[in-house]
Amino acid sequence: VEIVVHSKGGNKTSDIPYGLMHEDINNAGDGGIYAELIRNRAFRGSSRYPVSLAYWASINGAALSLKNLSTPLSSALPSSMNVAVNSTKSKSIGFANAGFWGMDVRKQKYTGSFYVRGSYEGFFTASLQSAITNNTLGSVKIESKSKKDEWVQHEFNLIPTKDATNSNNTFAITFDAAGVKEGSLDFNLISLFPPTYKNRENGLRPDIAEAFAALNPKFLRFPGGNALEGPDLANPWKWNETIGPLKDRPGRPGVWGYQTSDGLGLVEYLNWCDDMELEPILAIWSGLALDGAYINETDLGPWVEDALNEIEFVRGDSSTPYGKLRASLGYPEPWKLKYVEVGNEDWLAGAPSGYQSYMDYRFNAFNTAIKEKYPDIQVIASPSVFDNMTIPAPAAGDYHPYRQPNDYYAEFHKFDHLTSDNLTLVGEFASVHPNGGIDWAGGLHPFPWWIGGVGEAIFMISTERNGDRIIGSTYAPILRNMNRWQWSACMIEFEADVKKTTLSTSYHVFKLISTNPITRNLPTTPGTNTSSLFFVAGRSEDGKGVFKIANYNTTDHEPVPVSLRFEGLEKGAKAELTLLTSSDGPFGYNDPAKGNNVVVMTTKTLSLSGNGTFEFEMPELSVAVLETGAG
Ligand code: AHR
Repeated sequence: VEIVVHSKGGNKTSDIPYGLMHEDINNAGDGGIYAELIRNRAFRGSSRYPVSLAYWASINGAALSLKNLSTPLSSALPSSMNVAVNSTKSKSIGFANAGFWGMDVRKQKYTGSFYVRGSYEGFFTASLQSAITNNTLGSVKIESKSKKDEWVQHEFNLIPTKDATNSNNTFAITFDAAGVKEGSLDFNLISLFPPTYKNRENGLRPDIAEAFAALNPKFLRFPGGNALEGPDLANPWKWNETIGPLKDRPGRPGVWGYQTSDGLGLVEYLNWCDDMELEPILAIWSGLALDGAYINETDLGPWVEDALNEIEFVRGDSSTPYGKLRASLGYPEPWKLKYVEVGNEDWLAGAPSGYQSYMDYRFNAFNTAIKEKYPDIQVIASPSVFDNMTIPAPAAGDYHPYRQPNDYYAEFHKFDHLTSDNLTLVGEFASVHPNGGIDWAGGLHPFPWWIGGVGEAIFMISTERNGDRIIGSTYAPILRNMNRWQWSACMIEFEADVKKTTLSTSYHVFKLISTNPITRNLPTTPGTNTSSLFFVAGRSEDGKGVFKIANYNTTDHEPVPVSLRFEGLEKGAKAELTLLTSSDGPFGYNDPAKGNNVVVMTTKTLSLSGNGTFEFEMPELSVAVLETGAG
């Protein structure tokens, strides 16, 4: 196949072509990228997930019980754990936490704290130990500052003396029973963090964050997904309950089968944006819950007001009431906020009446109020024009194609007809169903798989070809804790043990495409795909030619030769070709249980042929990026 990339024409593409979308699904937040190691650290529950002492165990017979004291640590955290000295009066008593399916323990600095109420004279010992051998991996003594009727915070650093051989470890706090004056002590908000990404307090797990940063993401869409909507009208994601000291965060019943702490709250998401230089795409609640209930038009006003307050908290200067609140939390400088999305998938939950209410009044109420106060904000509706919604420009839409790989192939031209009045974010996409399967009537694919990734590459190429109208795209969900998950096809699988973090086939495809950005796309001849080759061409910020191509199913299964000419390229020019294929065929996948990687990456420096072309071959089911200017 001969392809010419013309040197003139084309369009400037979006500045944020690829990004990340985060929600607490699959323990992606608590027990995931949020680096807290202690599970059930604050004994919070809800109507859906009762308060309990789960994940806590007594040491040396200490009697553990839940208490709702008349003087709780805070109104947000009303329950606490009472630790009573038992009759045998063992010298050292206490409690241990099993973490989120274990804890990664290495010779590095852990930062911890806990609140205690009650009189105790002596030292507390905080330690990390193997759950199998009980061997201590590291410990520290903390002098008690505790007082009879007061909650007193104790902070400590703990550096283990050795790396644990696996993540089957626990964290314990013990103390001398003899020093306890009134028979028991109360504990709450017991927290332990390993070093975090960019050393943020209350920050992100570094190995996962680094894997995301390596994708060259440009935006972060948060806090969901369905997690934004909440399970019912009483429990949407409430931004103002996710800010400030951890003791003032009540957490909430998540929509994915567990209580969430909201330790990863609005400010932490914005810090994440700062640390990876991402544009926040802030999703505000649009008055629709996942059970399909929605707010009536007459009752919507306070929620619109609340969204404006949230936006003011993020980007208002500190003379504004909510900017002042932000400043009081230690963030005097406003964040940049250019993108606000109204809701999540409002076409889905509660359809048809929930969706009708969105089109009738919910979207307009938020859109009008936001544009009036912040004309520069790009408002995004949670459905797209592909979801049967007419979106009033300049508002954009959000499209979520979870598909069979063949669908991406068949829908390659889907975006070609978008006009500049149809700006579209792809806030979630992924191959999730096998070709020829029964889509949502069947399960999700157990892991991202190679042909799924090639389908995604075709999809990504289709967005880049329309990069002046597609705001950006993100795979979703991006994380799956292998110990508890609801959604199987995710970009990265992980466990407590950082050695088990697995980058899926889709991760590798996404990375190749997202780390070679095109800032202006260029016309090609042929102008569109051939039967199996899908491609986009353009220029990078520094003027290099960039060509991205995927080869899907060929009829003869033979590699397709490509002769690629960049108009205007001088004799002697070179190009770097990076090609991805699978060592395990179309159904190959990276299995966290095996720690394998079926994605084969080949790089080659190509020289211009006598005909002024770069010559290479695209095997069946392959993805490649070529960049001129190598060598
Ligand atoms: O990404 C998983 C879920 O898929 C999201 O929560 C929701 O927006 C979509 O339906």
